[in-house]
Amino acid sequence: MTIALASNDGAVGTPVGRKMLEVRNVHKHFGSVVALDGVSISVEEGKVAAIVGDNGAGKSTLVKILTGVHQPTSGEIFFDGRPATLRSPDDARRIGVETLFQDLALVDDLTIWQNLFLGRELTWGGPLSITRKRAMAAQARTMLAGLQINIPSINARVRQLSGGQRQAVAISRAVGWNAKLTIMDEPTAALGVRERLEVEGLIDRLRQQGRTFLLISHNFDQVMRLSNEIWIMRNGHVVGHRRTSETSGEELVALITGAKS
Ligand SMILES: Nc1ncnc2c1ncn2[C@@H]1O[C@H](COP(=O)(O)OP(=O)(O)OP(=O)(O)O)[C@@H](O)[C@H]1O
Ligand SMILES: [Mg+2]
Repeated sequence: MTIALASNDGAVGTPVGRKMLEVRNVHKHFGSVVALDGVSISVEEGKVAAIVGDNGAGKSTLVKILTGVHQPTSGEIFFDGRPATLRSPDDARRIGVETLFQDLALVDDLTIWQNLFLGRELTWGGPLSITRKRAMAAQARTMLAGLQINIPSINARVRQLSGGQRQAVAISRAVGWNAKLTIMDEPTAALGVRERLEVEGLIDRLRQQGRTFLLISHNFDQVMRLSNEIWIMRNGHVVGHRRTSETSGEELVALITGAKS
């Protein structure tokens, strides 16, 4: 199915895929602070959409609305074709929105497979059942093997992993449970160059498997490498929308700073 692009796109009329997420005219006020002032964006199924914008543009506020942490002051959210009301992070997770926050939220002293199952342990067989543990470890192994993630062993403690390996486990956990949309707010900010490239490779493979991502990043090179489309935010507004193949880092900087509109 194809539908026309929204009118704020430079390439009006170009056919696009099915929308997994559509945010329509969302406002968010914190007292007298207007963090979001009529924001509309969408994310196509099986694609990576990026949001770029300067500090304070409203990116994290939008993420928090999409993950049920904040409620919008007004506006609408459609997820997978249906109106979505997200009153809590559990609501968001239930409809298939997973989020990777900057603080990795892995537990150092648990193994990789235990971290993958954190908060969603298989419940049959009693808490200490060996069969149940084996089943979780086996599922975890299958999940990571499918993603070609380079880790020592499913039984290794997360404490032993490098930053890139940890982030790979966190991303796998976020996408690995039938997430329909995975939101990543600065997923590689804390990583070195080689680790960042490994994590980007993983995101790219997941996209090739049909996964859908919303990526918030200050790293323009990364946005240019990974995304299919880019939404540019400034002062609580969307000031631009580009296909990644039709823009450049220079144009993004100009849009973000207001040198170009
Ligand atoms: N809980 C809050 N209470 C009051 N104001 C807030 C709150 N959260 C965000 N804001 C304000 O809303 C605006 C947008 O903030 P937000 O964190 O969404 O920006 P951002 O684009 O994520 O910036 P950065 O790139 O620095 O992460 C800022 O002016 C910020 O001070
Ligand atoms: Mg932020």
